Amino acid sequence: MSDTYILGIESSCDETAAAVVRAGEQVISNVVSSQVALHQPFGGVVPELASREHLRNIVPVVRQALEQAGKTYETVDAIAVTQGPGLAGALLVGVSFAKALAYATGKPLIAVNHLEGHIHAVLLEQRQKGGEEFEFPVLALVVSGGHTHLYLADAKSESPLRPEEGLSGAPKSSPIWSYRNIGRTRDDAAGEAFDKVAKLLALGYPGGPIIDKLARHGDPAAVKFGPAQIKHRDRAAREKRSADTTFDFSFSGIKTAVLRYVETHGMRPAIEARRKALAGQVKPKFEDVLAACDHATLDLVASFQRAVVEDLVSKTLAAAAENNAASLFVTGGVAANSELRQRFEQEAPQQGLAVAFPSLRLSTDNAAMIAAAAYPKFVAKDFAPADFSAEAGMALGFR
Ligand code: KG4
Ligand code: ZN
Repeated sequence: MSDTYILGIESSCDETAAAVVRAGEQVISNVVSSQVALHQPFGGVVPELASREHLRNIVPVVRQALEQAGKTYETVDAIAVTQGPGLAGALLVGVSFAKALAYATGKPLIAVNHLEGHIHAVLLEQRQKGGEEFEFPVLALVVSGGHTHLYLADAKSESPLRPEEGLSGAPKSSPIWSYRNIGRTRDDAAGEAFDKVAKLLALGYPGGPIIDKLARHGDPAAVKFGPAQIKHRDRAAREKRSADTTFDFSFSGIKTAVLRYVETHGMRPAIEARRKALAGQVKPKFEDVLAACDHATLDLVASFQRAVVEDLVSKTLAAAAENNAASLFVTGGVAANSELRQRFEQEAPQQGLAVAFPSLRLSTDNAAMIAAAAYPKFVAKDFAPADFSAEAGMALGFR
């Protein structure tokens, strides 16, 4: 069934998204309705507002994805939806809608873990380019506004199909992946730290893309953030370097260090002036934000980004070496960061690691990744039971 079309639905956070993907390897349509403008005044996602907005958007977004793909509810082969992790109310909108749709159309329903979706964004694009050029084990860094996770992934099993069935138009062999979580954040996710620092400095929301661009204008060596500011509190686990060593992250310390720097360097008046200058603009133009930043702010932003990137890159590469990973996937919203990409592209090959990222469009939340992650489950007939529900704290794999 290389002509299997899966409708994916994603509503775990602040993007209502729907997409149609063929055989886990070709994006036919990919619609994302962002709620950035709605949450912008609060400097972060407000869960109640997110749920309400998903309710408003889900029907038109799904319709648009089907229309753009030249499909109807009847002509897709399955419906896939994000089950978790994410905001409970937001997830429920997508799950309830997908369940109703599956019930009404009689199509199979596939529940997808959002984090596995981010990993499959990389795979989807590799297949789309005409090949999966990676070897197992794969180390995947999933780094976004809600997550900073390291997964060691392996192919658990091939689909139960014989190869000749794949040739005759039956589902292509597609391995089910297994995951071991070998690192996670102890507190804030990396993207959350970008968003909180941007909020503190009155730079706008979401913080990641703005800080990424502003950092190019500052000196990353200007402010020193020592390892103590970026180290998780559980020292005992870190010092006990053994087979069960984990590679955990912590980003709340650096956020506090930025706050302290602001206070001790008298930066408050400049922040307030910027807040005033940018007030009234729902989505300020980058040039306006840059013009409202003095040197001290640009240096602080560049140094903050350098410290976060340094920590993500060094821990990930150490985890890859210790676990003999053959390939590295870097995915999730923060994988859009240009300095992070550059560093991984430079350093991973030096230790014999092939590194892959999704395109910028598939790095942040979308439903194409959900439809792609659903494909191996479709082949394996791993369908969701009728009584399944959203799971806000859903984990991926084992630890
Ligand atoms: O994957 P995503 O869309 O949603 C979650 O699952 O969280 O990630 C959104 C996060 C936000 O925190 C945003 O600030 C961050 O990704 N982000 C970036 C960049 N683009 C988005 N962080 C750093 N640099 C970027 N270029
Ligand atoms: Zn995400």
